[in-house]
Amino acid sequence: MVANTIAINQQSTEFADRQQVWLFGYGSLIYKAGFPFIKRQPAFIRHYSRRFWQGSHDHRGTPENPGRVVTLIEEPGAVCMGMAYLISPSEFAQLDYREKNGYLRVKLHIYFQANDFVEGLVYIADADNSAFLGPASELDIARHIAKSQGPSGHNRDYLLALADAIRELQGDDPHVFAIEQHLISSLNDD
Ligand code: SIN
Repeated sequence: MVANTIAINQQSTEFADRQQVWLFGYGSLIYKAGFPFIKRQPAFIRHYSRRFWQGSHDHRGTPENPGRVVTLIEEPGAVCMGMAYLISPSEFAQLDYREKNGYLRVKLHIYFQANDFVEGLVYIADADNSAFLGPASELDIARHIAKSQGPSGHNRDYLLALADAIRELQGDDPHVFAIEQHLISSLNDD
C-alpha cells in the first residue's frame, strides 16, 4: 500500500505563525534542495540514526517495486549529520508533497554546535507507515537499491549522491558507507 501523509502534515499548525523556520535534511534534502531558502548551514541532530529502511514508491521505485530511501530511527546517543535550511513556512506545501510517501513533520532540536541549537522541522517516516520496509543487512539493502528505479531516477544515484554529500559535510555514517561499498563492488563485478 502507498502511504500518503500530505493530509496529516497539512493539519499541523506547528510553526505556521513563524516568518522563518529551520528545516533539517538528512537524505535527498542534503544534496538536492529544489526549494527556495534564506540560508543553509551544516547541522546535526541527536539521538537518531539515518537508515535505508523506508520504501520509495514515488521517487526511487514504483508501487510494484519500491526502492529504499533513508529515514531516521531513534537511537539514544546517536548523532546524524545533515544540512539545515532556513525557510519560509510557505514552502511546507511543496515539502509535504515531496515527502508524502510516509514522512511526517516532526519538531526537533537542530544543532549547529554542541551548545547552539534551534527548534526546527524534520520529515521522518516512522515504523508505522505502510511504506516502511525496516531493517535488512547492508548487503541486501545494496542489492535492493541496485535493481530499483522510479520517476526521480535510479535508486543507486540517490545512495551515491547521499554518501558523497555526507563526506562533504565531514559526517560519518557507517551504515550508508557500507551500503555504498557493497553497491560499488557489485557494479565492479558486472
Ligand atoms: C530528508 O532528506 O530529510 C528526508 C528524506 C529524503 O527526502 O530523502
